[in-house]
Amino acid sequence: MTEENPYQLNHRHLLGLEDYSRQEIRLILDTADSFKEVIQRPIRKVPALRGKNIVNLFFESSTRTRLSFELAEKQLSADTLNFTTSGSSVSKGETLSDTARNIEAMQVDCVVVRHSAAGAPLFLSQCLSNAVIINAGDGAHEHPTQGLLDLLTIRDTLGDIEGLRVAIIGDIAHSRVARSNIWGLCKMGAEVAICGPPTMIPIDIEDMGVEVHYHVEDAIRDADVVYALRIQLERQQGVGLFPSIREYARLFGINTERMSHAKPGAIVMHPGPINRGVELDSDVADGKRSVILDQVTNGVAVRMAVLYLLNGGGERDDG
Ligand code: CP
Repeated sequence: MTEENPYQLNHRHLLGLEDYSRQEIRLILDTADSFKEVIQRPIRKVPALRGKNIVNLFFESSTRTRLSFELAEKQLSADTLNFTTSGSSVSKGETLSDTARNIEAMQVDCVVVRHSAAGAPLFLSQCLSNAVIINAGDGAHEHPTQGLLDLLTIRDTLGDIEGLRVAIIGDIAHSRVARSNIWGLCKMGAEVAICGPPTMIPIDIEDMGVEVHYHVEDAIRDADVVYALRIQLERQQGVGLFPSIREYARLFGINTERMSHAKPGAIVMHPGPINRGVELDSDVADGKRSVILDQVTNGVAVRMAVLYLLNGGGERDDG
């Protein structure tokens, strides 16, 4: 058996955290830490990916992920192209594989893709010959860079992730953020408790090594991290999975009283965008325990690290 090289990733693409080892995740977090120092300089730019062409191929809306990938690419000196479906030939019926193969024919080195279909990044990795594929969120499957930026935020705030208790509350079934977090947290040795309406808990979720709760206080009790998920009405296909938004907020919304069940130093996280007053009260979202904007800041450094490591950034020359 060959040993893993601790200084490089053993994957060509980032399709999900399910496939990544603890050592690879740690390498990405450590590399992101070094890029955090770069981001704080007066001139936030290094030449690591000079000459690389990177396209951000977004078939779904995004604020945080798309902008932070673009910023990360620019700070690494890559040449960046942004693709969104509106105004593209997708509206004339062009398929995903034709779109991607035409983009690759323009000598694109790396494709960052967000798509409503789970498996779209895997599909692209199979139909493109040379480009590195990075998953920026595929349906309800995974959102690996979100999982990584969340791990970095927890590590920055609370130290070693091993042994921490993390409660993830909400729409687990439709959440790619939950799946990437569960893979990442379990690999790093955290204890993960999930909670939501029974209609939003996948039946095989315990196989991922998590505790399942249906009362939010039980999941939050003694937690170091309380992670509220966004209700994803766009993925529920018109099926009512809970009686009403008001009922959901009453049973599962995170408020100050519910946070009193967590450890005194517990932090609150959310991937954004927040439905205020539904999954999270504003008092908590904007309170002193919230690290939600730190998650966004860390998103840039984590995406720089992923882009750098997967695109063979070579010798660092920080100028
Ligand atoms: N967290 C997240 O993926 O946000 P966006 O949809 O705005 O990218």
